[in-house]
Amino acid sequence: MSSNAFSKNLLVWFADHGRKTLPWQQPATPYRVWISEVMLQQTQVTTVIPYFERFMQHFPDVQSLAAAPIDEVLHLWTGLGYYARARNLHRAAQQIADGGQFPQTLEDLQALPGVGRSTAGAILSLSGQGVAAILDGNVKRVLARVFCVEGWTGSPKVQAQLWAQAEQLTPQQQPQVAHFNQAMMDLGATVCKRQPDCAICPLQSQCLAYQRGVTRDYPQRKPAKNKPVKRWQMLLLKNPQGAVWLQQRPAKGIWGGLWSLPQFESQQDLQLWSQQFTSSALEPLPEFRHTFTHFHLDIQAYLQTTEPTTQELLPSAEGVWYHPASAHKIGLAAPVKQLIDEAVN
Ligand code: ADE
Repeated sequence: MSSNAFSKNLLVWFADHGRKTLPWQQPATPYRVWISEVMLQQTQVTTVIPYFERFMQHFPDVQSLAAAPIDEVLHLWTGLGYYARARNLHRAAQQIADGGQFPQTLEDLQALPGVGRSTAGAILSLSGQGVAAILDGNVKRVLARVFCVEGWTGSPKVQAQLWAQAEQLTPQQQPQVAHFNQAMMDLGATVCKRQPDCAICPLQSQCLAYQRGVTRDYPQRKPAKNKPVKRWQMLLLKNPQGAVWLQQRPAKGIWGGLWSLPQFESQQDLQLWSQQFTSSALEPLPEFRHTFTHFHLDIQAYLQTTEPTTQELLPSAEGVWYHPASAHKIGLAAPVKQLIDEAVN
């Protein structure tokens, strides 16, 4: 898709549906846009509006903010949360007042405490002072869906990809860049929500996730870390005819009702069990991991080939000799099937 079609569709939508009368848009001075963007970093528009208006009554410009006692700033912030934002604003205002003029480049804006790349881009573009891309949470969601971007949008690699996309799509002149950036945020907040309203989306015909019917899968979640790890010892007991001893799993729990290999908590338990029937050697197979939704299962299997007389000794009430080559279909857990296929064929 051309970046032209993307921005054209978005700008047409913005003309009818974009937000153009937010308090910090009238007038959209760099100072007012800066304060609003910092307030909006962790807080919704409707909550921010009255705080923004009170803040502007007390501190109409950067000089009055710089000169205020921090307690007064914090008092006006009460209820917004994340108070580091207020302290950063106050410190930044003092830096700006000392420097004599409001920062005018992305680089100088990003040097302010509490101003990252996206906030700096928003200040520059929404105040009409320059051209820059933005990438806040709303924009990330839109781009991840339109381009089916793989991976968690918080990872450095995915962020780099999304920034590249944003840079490429963003118009390179005013006022289009201001409208485009505001439209991306508005689209993310009102249409391309977690539960998107694709029927009314201006980017529908360009959205890969929509075309593939997978909008629910994007943006992809943060990989759950620290999944617990269980370790199982499994015995792949094979008779001279090539059949494998299987037991049925209990109806409830992992692989409920499927057929599986005898499973033990420790190698010692496994050995004690198999010694009842055979004295042939245990051969450890390579350990491998099978991942479930809520945990990892590390499987250490042992291959043991029984003597010809062993098979009668096994308790037939507890399992069956299964011939992998037989046409008989049984429910096998996928990793168990894989183990059998590799060991027996
Ligand atoms: N979230 C962050 N910046 C915003 C803006 N300018 N308008 C609406 N939502 C926003």
